[in-house]
Amino acid sequence: MVRIPEETINHIRSQTNIKDIVERYVDLNKSGQNYFAHCPFHEDRTPSFSVNENKQIFKCFSCGRGGNVYTFIQEIEKLSFVESVFKVAELSQIPVDEALKNAVMEQDSATDTTYGKLLAVHKKAKDLYQHILLHAEVGEEAYDYLQSRGISRELMEEFELGFSPRQRESLGLYLKTQKDLEIDEDLLTQSGIFSEKKPDDDQFKDRFFNRIIFPLNNHTGKTVGFSGRVFQSNDQSGFKTAKYLNSPETQLFNKRKLLFNFDKAKKTIRKSKEAVLFEGYMDVIAGWKAGVQNSIASMGTSLTTEHIQSISSIADTLVIAFDGDNAGLESAKKIAEFLQNQSQLNVEIVRFPHGLDPDDYAKKYGNEALYNIITRGRQTLFQFLKDYYKRQYNLDNEAERIKYIELMIQEISKLSSAVERDLEAKELADEYDVSVETIMNQVQTHLTEHNHQRVRNLHYEQRNKAVLQPTRTNQKKRTKIDVTQEILLNRLFFYPEVEEILDHYTDEFTFATNIYERIYLFYEQFKRTNHDIDDFLNFVEEDELKQVISDIMWITIDVEPTDEEILDYAHYIYEVYPLEQKLQTLTEELNECKRQGNTRRELELTTELIKLNRKLKV
Ligand code: CTP
Ligand code: MN
Repeated sequence: MVRIPEETINHIRSQTNIKDIVERYVDLNKSGQNYFAHCPFHEDRTPSFSVNENKQIFKCFSCGRGGNVYTFIQEIEKLSFVESVFKVAELSQIPVDEALKNAVMEQDSATDTTYGKLLAVHKKAKDLYQHILLHAEVGEEAYDYLQSRGISRELMEEFELGFSPRQRESLGLYLKTQKDLEIDEDLLTQSGIFSEKKPDDDQFKDRFFNRIIFPLNNHTGKTVGFSGRVFQSNDQSGFKTAKYLNSPETQLFNKRKLLFNFDKAKKTIRKSKEAVLFEGYMDVIAGWKAGVQNSIASMGTSLTTEHIQSISSIADTLVIAFDGDNAGLESAKKIAEFLQNQSQLNVEIVRFPHGLDPDDYAKKYGNEALYNIITRGRQTLFQFLKDYYKRQYNLDNEAERIKYIELMIQEISKLSSAVERDLEAKELADEYDVSVETIMNQVQTHLTEHNHQRVRNLHYEQRNKAVLQPTRTNQKKRTKIDVTQEILLNRLFFYPEVEEILDHYTDEFTFATNIYERIYLFYEQFKRTNHDIDDFLNFVEEDELKQVISDIMWITIDVEPTDEEILDYAHYIYEVYPLEQKLQTLTEELNECKRQGNTRRELELTTELIKLNRKLKV
C-alpha cells in the first residue's frame, strides 16, 4: 500500500484557502464572518450553505453536510479522499510528487474498489473502440459516415468517439489480454457493457456491436457508460433496431444524473453562467464545432431534478435548443415550465425552423449561423409561450381568442419583473384591442392568487442578496448533554489551555456519550504530533466522526474560555449527567414497582432517590 504522507496532506491543506476552492463551484456572498451560498449538493431555495474562512470549513445548515476542503471536493467532484487531495493540490497549483501521485491513484482506482475497477474497464473499452474507429480497417465505414456528417477527425478525438465492430467477442477478448486489470465474471456483469451470459455460453458477448460509440462521461470526465448509434450504410440486417443503444444502469452509470458533455462544458458554463441544452449528441457536437462550448444534452429529452441540480450549481441560465419539430417544441415547453416552477434557473429558448435540428441547421446555414441563433436568437419563456399558444388557437374565432387572451394574462402574471408585466400587458392590449386596465386588473388578481409566484420572487431577491442567516432545519434534536459536550470539545480544539483546566478538575475525566468520547480520544492522539487543529479532519477517517467534528468546529464563541465555564461543563458532563441518568432509571423502576405493588422495593428506591436528589442539589 502506497499512502500519501500525512505531512503532504496537511501541507496542501494549509497552503489552500477553502474559500478560493469553494468559490470555483458556487457563488459566495460574504455576510459577517462567513460566506453564504445556495448549497451545491441539493436544490436549495435559501442560502443554507456557508464557508468559515477562519476555521477553513464549510457547512450546510439544511442538509447537514460539512467538513474541510477535502470533504468538499470529495462530495462535489465525487472523488475518493486520496483523489481529492491531488485535486486540491492541482486547483491550488501546489506541486506534488508525480510518481507518488501515479502510484497512489493507480492503486486507488484499479485495486481499491469495484467502483474503481469498473472505471478502469470502461477506460479500456473506450480506448479500444476509439482505436478501432481511428486506426482499424473495420472502422472505416463508421469513420466515413461520421465524416459525411461533418465530424472531423479532431472532433472524433475531442469526443473520444469509437466504433464497436460486428464481432461480438472483440471487447471481451481484448480485456482478457490486459494484464494490469484483475477481471472476474462478476465485474464484467456489473459493467453493463456485456450481454447477460447464458449458462451454456463460455463467453460473454459484447453489448455493443456494429455501432458508433459515444462515451458517456461523468462530471469529472471519467467514462461511465456508452451509447452506440447505428448508421445507415451498415443497416443491412433488414429488421429495425433502435437508433441508440445505451449502457444499462450500473454502479457508475445513472441516466438521471448524467449529462452528455458536462465534463467538458462545465468550464465554459461556469464562466458564462449559461448552459445550452440540446436534444442529441450530434447536436452537442455540432454546437461545439460552431463555438458553443457550454453545450450539453440529457439522454433523450427528459430533464430530471438531478440534472437541474448539476446545472444550477454552476449556471444562472439554461438555454433550450431543441429540434424544430413538434416533439422538440413540446419537450422544450415542458422543461421550461418545469424550471419556472421548480428552479431558480432562468430559461431561454432557441427556435429552429420547422423540421431542422441544430445539427441540420448548421449543415444548411453554416456554423456561424448556428452560433448566432444560439447566442442571439433566443426567446424568453413568455415569448415562446405566446407563439406556442398562437398556433394552438384559431384567433379568428372569438371564443378561442378570448381563451388565448386569458391564457396570456395568466402567463403575464407569472413574470417576475413588473416592468416586463407592464410591457407585455400593453402589447397584448394593443394587439387585441382590450384596455390595459382590464388586463392589469386580471393580472393583479392572478398575482395574489398565485402566491407561489411571490415566493419565487422572494427567492429571486434572496439570491441577489444571499445573505440570509441560515436556519437549522434538517438536524436531529440535540439535547443539553450533546450541546455541552460539543461546546467543551470546541473549547478544547481552539484553546489548548482548556486541557489543563480539565486535568485539574480530575485526571479521570471522560465524556458521557460514546461518540464524543471517541472524538476526544482521537483528538488526544492527534495532538501528540500536530498542533494545527485545521488538520484534525484529515486525521480522522470515519465519515460519521468527521461530520460531527466539523459541526463542533463550526461553533464560534467570541469570548475566551474561563476556568469557571470549563468546570461547569466538566461538572455537568462527568458528574451531574450520570446522576440525572441514574435518577431517571430509578424513577422508572419506582413507577414499575408502584404498578406491581412491590412496597419493599418501593421504599428502598424512594430513599435512594432522596439521596440522589440531595447530591444533585449541591
Ligand atoms: N436517444 C436514445 N435512444 C434512442 C433514441 C434517442 O437514448 N433510441 C437519445 C440520445 O441521447 C439522442 C437523443 O435521444 O442523442 C436525441 O435523439 P435523436 O435526435 O434521434 O438523435 P441525434 O443524436 O440527434 O442523432 P442524429 O442527428 O443522427 O439523428
Ligand atoms: Mn437529432
